[in-house]
Amino acid sequence: MSSEPRTVLSVEGLHAGYGHVAVVRGIDMRVAEGELVTLIGANGAGKSTLLKALVGLVPPSAGTVRFLGEDITRMRPERAVRAGLALVPEGRMLFGPMSVEENLELGAQVTDRTQTVGSLERVFDLFPVLAERRSQTAATLSGGEQQMLAVARALMARPRLLLLDEPSLGLAPKVIKEIFGALRKLKDEGLTILLVEQDARLALKHSDRGYVMRTGSIALAGDAADLLEDDDVRLIYLGAWRGEGESS
Ligand SMILES: Nc1ncnc2c1ncn2[C@@H]1O[C@H](COP(=O)(O)OP(=O)(O)O)[C@@H](O)[C@H]1O
Ligand SMILES: [Mg+2]
Repeated sequence: MSSEPRTVLSVEGLHAGYGHVAVVRGIDMRVAEGELVTLIGANGAGKSTLLKALVGLVPPSAGTVRFLGEDITRMRPERAVRAGLALVPEGRMLFGPMSVEENLELGAQVTDRTQTVGSLERVFDLFPVLAERRSQTAATLSGGEQQMLAVARALMARPRLLLLDEPSLGLAPKVIKEIFGALRKLKDEGLTILLVEQDARLALKHSDRGYVMRTGSIALAGDAADLLEDDDVRLIYLGAWRGEGESS
């Protein structure tokens, strides 16, 4: 038998929330090396909370998170970044008054200084517009450029797993295409990616597998191609009543 790809992330029975409010309620999921996995679900389902719980920004109340075999449950966010998880948060969270390059250097803080130049070259290669605007402050970038910067900053940490929360939110179709093109490239280079995306159709088209989250739990999981054909998924998350006959 061929050997299974290595498991990068494995989540078992994960619970997390805010105070007494349970938001993530018993999540099991797995992401293998080199996979692009998408998590879809309605607003308020708990997707962002799950991502935050994975990287230690929201402390899990039960369950385990394993990363490359190591138990990282309740690891502090900075240590999680050092371990190799990088989150591109919803809303980007850039430092507006700082330049593109300074924002990127902050992303590289967890790595060895000697890697910074190479990392910069890599992200400028991926997003050439950031190289052109390297001295410009983040606040003056367009929404699309800011999203690219947020992705680039996460990459500066040289992650083994990239987590993205709604990278297409509020962006024009042309820019969304560019962002997904970059994710595709990163995947082709072997990076493992866990994506939360409101545009479920677009995300699943680029993904190997998907999970559907409903009120804090996984309602459905499967190959992305199968989820794209699933009647419930089509009706609820793909806007099949609108998307019918839509071209790619
Ligand atoms: N900081 C917070 N404090 C309290 N409740 C929160 C907080 N963030 C999110 N929630 C609640 O948790 C639930 C899930 O939110 P969220 O994880 O952002 O869902 P999604 O990303 O799927 O839209 C929502 O009911 C939301 O109101
Ligand atoms: Mg969210």
